[in-house]
Amino acid sequence: MLCEKYSPNTLNGIVGNRNATDRLMEFGMAVHSGKKVMPMILYGPSGVGKTAAVHALAYSNNFELLELNASDYRDVTHLGKVLLPASRSRGLFSSTILIFLDEIDELSGKFDAGAEKVILELVKSSRQPVIFAANDFWSMKISFLRNLVDRVEFKKPAVSDVQKVLANIASREGGGISAETVDAIARRSNGDIRGAINDLEAMTGAVPELFENLGVRDRKVEVFGVLDKIFSSGNFDISRNAVMKSDLDMEMLMNWIDENVTKRYPASRDIAEAYSKLAVASKFLEKASRTGYYGYLRYANILLSSGVSLSNSGSLTMLRQYSFPSNIRYLSSTKKERSSLAAIAEKLGPMLHTNKRRIIESYLPLLGIMFSEIATRSGEGAMESVAARYGISEGETEFILDRYGRKVR
Ligand SMILES: Nc1ncnc2c1ncn2[C@@H]1O[C@H](COP(=O)(O)OP(=O)(O)OP(=O)(O)O)[C@@H](O)[C@H]1O
Ligand SMILES: [Mg+2]
Repeated sequence: MLCEKYSPNTLNGIVGNRNATDRLMEFGMAVHSGKKVMPMILYGPSGVGKTAAVHALAYSNNFELLELNASDYRDVTHLGKVLLPASRSRGLFSSTILIFLDEIDELSGKFDAGAEKVILELVKSSRQPVIFAANDFWSMKISFLRNLVDRVEFKKPAVSDVQKVLANIASREGGGISAETVDAIARRSNGDIRGAINDLEAMTGAVPELFENLGVRDRKVEVFGVLDKIFSSGNFDISRNAVMKSDLDMEMLMNWIDENVTKRYPASRDIAEAYSKLAVASKFLEKASRTGYYGYLRYANILLSSGVSLSNSGSLTMLRQYSFPSNIRYLSSTKKERSSLAAIAEKLGPMLHTNKRRIIESYLPLLGIMFSEIATRSGEGAMESVAARYGISEGETEFILDRYGRKVR
């Protein structure tokens, strides 16, 4: 993932939040000078670089990093066993272990008393530096910590900062992503750098025609605006006009709605209603393209826009970012894979007496399951004869196994 690939190695590489990164640098220096430093808590919105900053701090100071996150806080015994000895020990390869309790407010439910005790003991007695990270400093779950730690706030970075990060990645990736696209994603990001990088990645995988459909080329992420109107207006005209005025491709818009409706409509009844509208819209779209009579598009248009909009009975989930339709992201990022699938399907055609598409959709998943059964029962050697039996190469059986096989644990 681009996020991981471009996660900065030094605190200077963390864009924005200078104040916070300065505090971390001081923290690092104090640790080096052998002072006992008060544990810190980094807090602020998602995707702005809290975790990345701690990684950079550890990396650039040559600290070993002991990092825990939300899933580790449930098991108290484990927590005590891992944390307390580490906090008293010295590192294996360097003298410092930075103990990092990330996502400390993300435990569902409260910490149990045992876990609180372990963490309090850590804070009080650790000989190693300790840093916490959380989204919400005021979360009740961590009230027991508040007075014992130094607070360092991470704020949402400015649009220009997000732009800087994206532009750097885009130029280093050399994927022909235009400055307009970068701008549009940055403006939409609401300060979430991780989200913005993920969007950029989705766009990078996409084929050029897709940018046209998205309207990104003409300087706006039009689709986001249209989605907002559909999901949040609850109004026949507003949503219909938004779609009419845009030059979004209907099929594409349908994918966007499909991907995001469950994220915005909290009520399952509304979601069901919206999907029934989408389903009918989809029939009309298909009919239009089959018959060549584009009058049907009118109905598709209205069902997609006003239909989905009026399906919402009132409440709406706040959303930071719409997700790129995963089926399309999938298609564009798997072009190579699809051509291998097509090649396999072609070879299997004569045996299965059906078309390629059907083979890919219905038969290959079954073959995957069969192959993994055979491989586990009779050993890998058996795959050779399977390949011969189906007239495909061993590489191709591997491919089917990888893609569809049961993961044997
Ligand atoms: N300020 C930044 N400068 C450069 N890159 C950043 C910055 N913030 C985030 N990123 C990129 O986004 C990725 C995700 O950020 P990170 O995991 O640090 O977010 P976070 O603040 O810890 O969010 P969460 O609260 O969801 O854990 C990083 O790996 C990095 O690639
Ligand atoms: Mg994080």
